[in-house]
Amino acid sequence: MLLDIRALTVEVEGKEVLKGVNLQIDQGETHVLFGKNGSGKTSLLMTIMGFSGYKVKEGSIFFKGEDITNFPINERAKRGMGMSFQRPPTIKGVKTMDLIAIFNSDEKSVAEAAESLELTAFLDREINRGFSGGEIKKSELLQLMTQNPDLILLDEPESGVDLENIAVIGRAIKKLLQKNLRRLRVNAGLVITHTGLILNYVEADRGHLLLDGRMRCEGNPREMFATIQKSGYEVCARCQK
Ligand SMILES: Nc1ncnc2c1ncn2[C@@H]1O[C@H](COP(=O)(O)OP(=O)(O)O)[C@@H](O)[C@H]1O
Ligand SMILES: [Mg+2]
Repeated sequence: MLLDIRALTVEVEGKEVLKGVNLQIDQGETHVLFGKNGSGKTSLLMTIMGFSGYKVKEGSIFFKGEDITNFPINERAKRGMGMSFQRPPTIKGVKTMDLIAIFNSDEKSVAEAAESLELTAFLDREINRGFSGGEIKKSELLQLMTQNPDLILLDEPESGVDLENIAVIGRAIKKLLQKNLRRLRVNAGLVITHTGLILNYVEADRGHLLLDGRMRCEGNPREMFATIQKSGYEVCARCQK
């Protein structure tokens, strides 16, 4: 098991945002996380990545068989975890290229990745400064493509992105998570989506529904999304799987 989350209870600013969450992701699998606004989806990703402010009250997180529950972010990144943010910060004084150069010194592969996302002109710009919503999302993906982590956490990668750029982003995510010919994938992913558009691009293996900090359903991601679209989150939660 690549990621094994056991009975995780998490507090933010004194508020319980995750209540006994279990989640297992095997190597090469892509999982999709659904849930209303405020359900705790972002909190789950931030806790997996290890951001301070997300206090683990109970339970544990295992990554590659190691208990990383109390590890700092950099140690998790070093072990092969990466994340794209729902709302990443602007970092003045640091060029996008300067950040990428820290984890990837192969200029050719960085240039290719930037080209594929139509971001070549952005490498010299300060991180997210003056970027549009879509450009920010693409820059997040560029950082992930050049970091190439084993577990990729994506927080609403398509939100605020126009239709043409959704195709660009979709193809980039597909490349990050695609299975090879023997259907063996190296990278695993956990993707939060509201629109479900990402399901058109990635071969998602499993879906999860998080509501009010609890996992309420697990199943086929396409079926779950269809149910949510037709009848809402509560009906999906009733399947009790
Ligand atoms: N830093 C914070 N301070 C106070 N409340 C927070 C903080 N971060 C998240 N929350 C609260 O935790 C709940 C879950 O938030 P979040 O994980 O962002 O949900 P989602 O991503 O599913 O929309 C929400 O009620 C939100 O207001
Ligand atoms: Mg969120």
